[in-house]
Amino acid sequence: MTASCSSDSGTGCLTRRSLLSGAAALGVAGLMPGHSHGTPTDGLGLKDRAARRGLVFGAAVNAHDLRRSAALRAALQRDCAIITPENEMKWGYVEKRRGYPDYRDAQAIANFAAKQGLKLRGHAAMWYSNIPNWVKEAISGEQGHDIMLRRVEAVVSHFRGRVVEWDVVNEAIEPRDGLADGMRRWPEFAKGDPAYIVDCFHAARAADPDAVLVYNDWGFEYNWPVFEQRRKSVLILLEKLVSAGAPIDQFGIQCHCKIGNDFDERVYADFLAEAAALGLKLSLTELDISDIPETGPIETRDQRVADHARMILSVAFDQPAVVKLMTWGLSDMTSWLNAQMPRPDGTLQRALPLDEAMKRKPLWYAIAECLDAAPERPDASPHP
Ligand code: XIL
Repeated sequence: MTASCSSDSGTGCLTRRSLLSGAAALGVAGLMPGHSHGTPTDGLGLKDRAARRGLVFGAAVNAHDLRRSAALRAALQRDCAIITPENEMKWGYVEKRRGYPDYRDAQAIANFAAKQGLKLRGHAAMWYSNIPNWVKEAISGEQGHDIMLRRVEAVVSHFRGRVVEWDVVNEAIEPRDGLADGMRRWPEFAKGDPAYIVDCFHAARAADPDAVLVYNDWGFEYNWPVFEQRRKSVLILLEKLVSAGAPIDQFGIQCHCKIGNDFDERVYADFLAEAAALGLKLSLTELDISDIPETGPIETRDQRVADHARMILSVAFDQPAVVKLMTWGLSDMTSWLNAQMPRPDGTLQRALPLDEAMKRKPLWYAIAECLDAAPERPDASPHP
């Protein structure tokens, strides 16, 4: 079934989706040997399952974990076709001293990718968060616009030919800031005008004409008024970028999720369809699923995380413009949620496909099932 999950073709994809969850409940299709932890009989990793459908699977990694864990390195190789540095390319990480960028940790990740034949994704050329102290003041002054474009130019050209795809601008909307069209109150000089984003995209294109250029943001999955505002705001922004002629190729949907949150598949399918109608490809760029609301045994937590992912991914993959899925870390050992949103009981968040010993969890199997069930993409790779 290849129908996209838009309002007028919903019945088909609902049927396929309920089949999917039925298959999961029974543990069938040769994927799960009777229980959720085990080796699938066909031995394929997530990258292979994705590739069979013309999709791409990958994950974020940080230099520290990459250096210390051989098990993680092996797992990345098994499951990922593409990786992205979790923090190491961010402005505040790279250029603490103005004019003295330090790319060593980003380079270490790039070297690993090159050696293992993995693609490399750049994250993020411009982001309001994790900026150097010297930028905080400088950016609001007269030189702000130039400083910003120089940074985009510098980091994109530094990795030219090595990074296949860039998050050029990350998280530029924030409806709670109260500006028109839900724009973030940053950078100050922009006053909510997205023209600076158009300029960043032009700077990135000039710095690496071959890189796929992405606008990336969070907070679109759930059925809450604030997320409804975010969906509206980002569609307005994307439409403005496209009509202003910004060289934008993709919309990156971070997909930081939490079990128990209210998800409406029709609302999400329509949102993806609207973004796709702007002529953009879509990627889920930072999937993880917090299990904080569940206080029961590990098995229950894992099952709820897997079910939550299945619910969202089956809708996403039904949208033909979706070309890629990345998780924000591959193993629970490495999840930022353990620092950002620690569980009150002190155990690790079970938010990622592999556990701390790199064993596959029900989330891994849920992703595998959704990839297996995804309609085939006609254009096999977004990175020819
Ligand atoms: C996070 C990292 O995972 C953390 O290690 C860091 O402390 C803060 O940033 N959206 C993004 C990512 O685009 O860059 C963020 O990464 C997670 C949310």
